[in-house]
Amino acid sequence: MNRTDGKVALISGSARGLGAETARVFTQGGGKVLVADILDDVGKKTVEELKQAGADAAYVHLDVTSESDWENAVKTAVDTFGSLDVLVNNAGIFFTKRTEKMTLADWRLMTSVNLDGVFLGTKAALPALAESAAKAKVGSAIVNLSSVAGLTGARGASAYCMSKGGVRLYTKACALEFAQRRIRVNSVHPGLIDTDMGQLVIDSAARGNRSPDKVKQAMQSSHPIGRLGVPTDIANGVVYLASDDAAFMTGSELVIDGGSTAQ
Ligand SMILES: NC(=O)c1ccc[n+]([C@@H]2O[C@H](COP(=O)([O-])OP(=O)(O)OC[C@H]3O[C@@H](n4cnc5c(N)ncnc54)[C@H](O)[C@@H]3O)[C@@H](O)[C@H]2O)c1
Repeated sequence: MNRTDGKVALISGSARGLGAETARVFTQGGGKVLVADILDDVGKKTVEELKQAGADAAYVHLDVTSESDWENAVKTAVDTFGSLDVLVNNAGIFFTKRTEKMTLADWRLMTSVNLDGVFLGTKAALPALAESAAKAKVGSAIVNLSSVAGLTGARGASAYCMSKGGVRLYTKACALEFAQRRIRVNSVHPGLIDTDMGQLVIDSAARGNRSPDKVKQAMQSSHPIGRLGVPTDIANGVVYLASDDAAFMTGSELVIDGGSTAQ
């Protein structure tokens, strides 16, 4: 399972968190990875760690809101590794703000990273993904990071929910559009995962009068499995969807949330 031998992945927002762990699992399966982020020092350190573990990895600066950065990232993947087989649209931001306090600039910030970023990445990678799909046994793959907040509402997080709900249906529409070109497109919907963003979710919920520890405990018990997720829980699912094991999956949503949306 989860073999990625010979495949090349470009993962946005992979300097840290779920993206960095996905890079680690992808390369453990035999694939090569282009780590891409705005956090250049952190991203370069991640690549060094991957290389020390024997992986084939490189770093490129990528602001997902920039069309020219995306074009450069795709070109770097092809120039460095010879092809592009997998795109993981992982970069994302999170904040909570009640509607009456939210400015149009806040709304557009969320849209620009979490939605424009996914569209621009998909558009830029499409020619290279189609080219490698034509030569591959199964085809190419795009995996988009949505969220459980793309399935159900979350109080105070309307802009985030809007963006992740958008990613969910953009994924399905692209799956239909690209199926004939043998490019599969699926979304992943994590519950609360222990990363910098996961901590931000806890701190945002604690704002006011509750302690972050108490909020964390409450959130743990809202996941029937009884714990928060760890990055490997999500990376394993992303790499599965990127691998040929998921050959008959496209337009699907993989929920990895410890059962939180099953209740
Ligand atoms: N952690 C969770 O609980 C959780 C739950 C559901 C969904 N997700 C989603 O998973 C993805 C990864 O989340 P994470 O927990 O690793 O978050 P994180 O904040 O730990 O890491 C996100 C990464 O994205 C990068 N990034 C942000 N803006 C960028 C931009 N404009 N261009 C390029 N890179 C940018 C950051 O620098 C960072 O390296 C996000 O899309 C997030 O919405 C996370």
